[in-house]
Amino acid sequence: MARISAGIATSHVPAIGAAIDLGKTQDEYWAPVFEGYEFVKEWIKDNTPDVVILAYNDHASALMLDIVPTFAIGFADTFQSADEGWGRRPVPLVHNHIDLAAHVAEQLVIDEFDITIINEMDVDHGLTIPLSLVFGQVEEWPCKVIPLAVNVTQFPTPSGERCWKLGEAIRNAVKTFPEDLDVQVWGTGGMSHQLQGTRAGLINKEFDNRFLDLLAHEPEELATWTRLEYLREAGTEGIELIMWLIMRAALGYGVDELHRFYRVPASNTAVGHVVYQAKA
Ligand code: DHB
Ligand code: FE
Repeated sequence: MARISAGIATSHVPAIGAAIDLGKTQDEYWAPVFEGYEFVKEWIKDNTPDVVILAYNDHASALMLDIVPTFAIGFADTFQSADEGWGRRPVPLVHNHIDLAAHVAEQLVIDEFDITIINEMDVDHGLTIPLSLVFGQVEEWPCKVIPLAVNVTQFPTPSGERCWKLGEAIRNAVKTFPEDLDVQVWGTGGMSHQLQGTRAGLINKEFDNRFLDLLAHEPEELATWTRLEYLREAGTEGIELIMWLIMRAALGYGVDELHRFYRVPASNTAVGHVVYQAKA
């Protein structure tokens, strides 16, 4: 049977992608950010999964405001990096695991998550930057990736509680897939940041560190935080953190926190990153 072995969460700041693509990772500004990813780059070599289910948000790159699904699963065989205004990032094509994607979609619908199916889509920095941070600059991504897009850009976004339940439903779905697959669930976005309005530049270290503590040890408490609390405490884009809850719930109650990294700032954002191993 398939099983979820580990989870990774990370911020997905576009400027991090530019730093990688333009060879600036060792510049004075960027070196301390990339140092926080040295652990995962080593760890993943011995822990490369067959498939990553990657919860991220599109930033009106592929999913424009004409159609805004709350939760959507990518069903194409492959996904290209989106052109977000500076050309496509020079990264490999993302290959899907269609059989697992189909199984997860079916089980989610049975579990009352009416997930949208997307048969053709490009994937933006929300998905490609985490892959680059973990796998580095490679010719091919070393595993299959199922994109799970969550609306955090257009009101009404789902609640943290709903994302928690989605993570639990994904866990149940993966467990019943008959093929012997090692699956990881990743969540991207956050941490606190606000890119617009009078509070642009907002960062809340206290909030972020409390989030990281609770995520590891008392995640169900986090699932009770309202969207308004994220907005107030973590800024308009801090709501991206609800995607970390999908990852966390998919791992089950107990996890081993293998790595935690937090740094302010990278671009406009507080950068956070964790690696969790599921308990057997
Ligand atoms: C930034 C961060 C994001 O998460 C994003 O999607 C876009 C921009 C930033 O810090 O610049
Ligand atoms: Fe973002």
